[in-house]
Amino acid sequence: MSIIDLSTDYMGLKLANPLVPSASPLSRSLDSALQLQDAGAGAIVMYSLFEEELRHEEDMTTKFLINQDIGHGEADSFLPFHDQYQHGLDHYLEHLAALKNTLNIPVIASLNGISLNGWVEHGKLLEQAGADALELNVYFLAADFNETSHTVESRYLELLRKLRGQVSIPIAMKLSPYFSALPHFLKRLEEEGANGAVLFNRFYQPDIDPDSLKIIPQLHLSSSIDTLLAMRWIAIVSGRVNLALAASGGIHNAQDAVKMLLAGADILNLCSTLIINGPEQLSKIKSNLQDWMEQNEFSSVSELRGRLSQQFCDNPEAFERANYVSMVS
Ligand SMILES: Cc1cc2nc3c(=O)[nH]c(=O)nc-3n(C[C@H](O)[C@H](O)[C@H](O)COP(=O)(O)O)c2cc1C
Repeated sequence: MSIIDLSTDYMGLKLANPLVPSASPLSRSLDSALQLQDAGAGAIVMYSLFEEELRHEEDMTTKFLINQDIGHGEADSFLPFHDQYQHGLDHYLEHLAALKNTLNIPVIASLNGISLNGWVEHGKLLEQAGADALELNVYFLAADFNETSHTVESRYLELLRKLRGQVSIPIAMKLSPYFSALPHFLKRLEEEGANGAVLFNRFYQPDIDPDSLKIIPQLHLSSSIDTLLAMRWIAIVSGRVNLALAASGGIHNAQDAVKMLLAGADILNLCSTLIINGPEQLSKIKSNLQDWMEQNEFSSVSELRGRLSQQFCDNPEAFERANYVSMVS
């Protein structure tokens, strides 16, 4: 039996293999996180700590402190309420520490928000609680007619700068696919101290119900066809930026995983497929990936990675406009 080396480096973290469950409710229980590890996950990304939760906590603290000023008698009556309130941040830190105690794979914590008002400074606490790296998901839909693309990009850079100033562990920026000049923007993230980019985050897409005439918020799970979006961009930027590349979106089987690695991904984030099929899907993908590599005579992930990136493939123009006209006609 040949030995296939699935190990990969992600922002300096040495992973036994590139299969990494991405931020999702699957990391909310120690049990399911453990099942993912047992199924063979190389690392795990925690569900996000949302800016809104931190804001809520701040509001609650202010309320408590103001109420305390009213006088001891009044303040006492607020105490049980304050004690009962479960701080979003405290809960997240406790869960992160518990995951670190339970698992022996790297745990990547995730921050999710958009405003510049001091919430990313909590990244330091995540580092202290044992996070091996941080993912910063600036979940921002550029819907303001008065805001330029430069302003939108500056928001990401400013948040990254603030976080970089707080922590020394690696930082990955989780991006939406809606950037008009992604390669240039990735270079800027690199200059500001990011170590990796997660391509891509998926915004939830509200639907319209024609019967009730209502807007329905919903989160669709992906399918394999969704891999093509990140695959193209990873292929274009692979080897040309000094950022680790995490492929996220549509990876459901070993074939999807192979394609992303050939394009140049360092790790493969899995979410929808694990929600649909359970943690054991990860071990299935891993063993099928190994089989594929064996059959195609690749002995390591590093041999496979970027083999068909734009830089190394035979027809680099295929990733851009070439053949488009002949294809559509
Ligand atoms: C139910 C659910 C919850 C998610 N929660 C988070 C989250 O807390 N933070 C985050 O950055 N991404 C979150 N995501 C996005 C996923 O991590 C992933 O980027 C996206 O679903 C695309 O990958 P997939 O095609 O494998 O599902 C969530 C996705 C789903 C479906």
